[in-house]
Amino acid sequence: MTLLISKTKEDWTFKEIKTQEFTHGLHQYPARMHPEIAKRLITKFTSKKSDLVFDPFMGSGTVLVEAMLHGKNSIGIDLNPFAVLLSNVKTTPLDAKKLETTFKQIISNSKKDKQQKTVYDNAPVFTSRKSKKENLDFWFPNEAINDLQILKNHVFLIKDKQISNFFKICFSLTTRRVSFQKNSIYKIYRMQDDKRKEHKPDTFTEFQKICEKNIKNMKNFTQKIGTKHAIANTILGNTMDAPKILGTKKPTLLVTSPPYGDHQTTVAYGQFSRHPGMWLELPEQEELLAVDSEGLGGKKKDEIEDLQSDTLDKILKKIKKKDKEIPKTKTHANRAGDVYSFFKDLDNCFEKISHVLQENKSHCCFVVSNRTVRREKIPTDEICVDLAKKYGFTHIDTIYRTIANKAMSLKNAPENISNFSGDTMNQESIIIWKF
Ligand SMILES: C[S@@+](CC[C@H](N)C(=O)[O-])C[C@H]1O[C@@H](n2cnc3c(N)ncnc32)[C@H](O)[C@@H]1O
Repeated sequence: MTLLISKTKEDWTFKEIKTQEFTHGLHQYPARMHPEIAKRLITKFTSKKSDLVFDPFMGSGTVLVEAMLHGKNSIGIDLNPFAVLLSNVKTTPLDAKKLETTFKQIISNSKKDKQQKTVYDNAPVFTSRKSKKENLDFWFPNEAINDLQILKNHVFLIKDKQISNFFKICFSLTTRRVSFQKNSIYKIYRMQDDKRKEHKPDTFTEFQKICEKNIKNMKNFTQKIGTKHAIANTILGNTMDAPKILGTKKPTLLVTSPPYGDHQTTVAYGQFSRHPGMWLELPEQEELLAVDSEGLGGKKKDEIEDLQSDTLDKILKKIKKKDKEIPKTKTHANRAGDVYSFFKDLDNCFEKISHVLQENKSHCCFVVSNRTVRREKIPTDEICVDLAKKYGFTHIDTIYRTIANKAMSLKNAPENISNFSGDTMNQESIIIWKF
């Protein structure tokens, strides 16, 4: 019998391992997976050239990038249009010389425009919830607004679609860096007054720094994967449609990190992507606005069904009891219902992916965190094992790891009650099944 990974002395904290190498660091994205997790799982559970890797919650494409670096074809699905654009750019090798030439053109044309005081009118319309009036300057320093419009004009003029997309990602990160958005927070959150007064970014310099770093990383990626490289297919869609989307394609390895199930409190992929999506004029604006409501747990279920998990039943009972004790607020009165809705969707997801994996030949790996609701730790890893069992997944191992450097808010206040911070999500479980 082979030794379980969790029983070996392998270190899964990866304190010393960089997370920004190759195309991984092109742009921020909430709750990214540590690339080393994907790398190790792909190395352990694929052997044949024909093995196909699948990530049903692709996010920024970490798993697909690692699959390419290991010569494996891959497919990823995400319902966030910004995530799909980003993953596409990260998995499209590009010639560094062409990028450098284009970059020089953008910068020199932009500087010329600035000197000649050329004004473009291509900024998105930002509305504030309070006044409902256009207020771009609520989010951006005045100087930055002009410079961003100049840069946008030149990025959008690039004819080659893949090169244009690469610079759109660089531009998107620039909009975030120069804005009054608090950088370390993924939800839409404006800096405090004092910080805003000190915030005087030079937009062209920011763009330049980002482009130089990204071109270097793209160069390393393109060199590493070589000319006969594997292919990554990045698809905009809902994982609930995975059987239809994948058709006859049958993955042998699934590696993913599903959403945490608490868009309302900590990780809101849609909110994170809204401003970049507006600047980039992503055609799928409707999909962008629906990311958080369409994602797992985004819609409340009216009826509670038995999902055949004793662990889930027990925790729901505890939360329900606390729901009754805690004074009702409009948005968080029924936390048990929120938790159930998330697991109901996750249950559905296990059913769907059971139709796409190759039977008796596949492995499935989920990276999850055990978040806290009403001060109760939700054993997401154990619940996942219970849910997946019904659909033919045989649990073989769970690796527990401490997150050394994950970029996300560590404290959250799940009940929106001041002076109460929920548990931190600095532990992850990597659940492994045979299918
Ligand atoms: C934790 S993130 C994945 C992060 C990714 N592993 C990375 O390294 O960037 C979860 C992703 O699931 C997506 N998502 C949520 N519900 C979905 C659904 N029903 N179908 C497809 N994608 C979904 C979100 O948009 C988000 O990008």
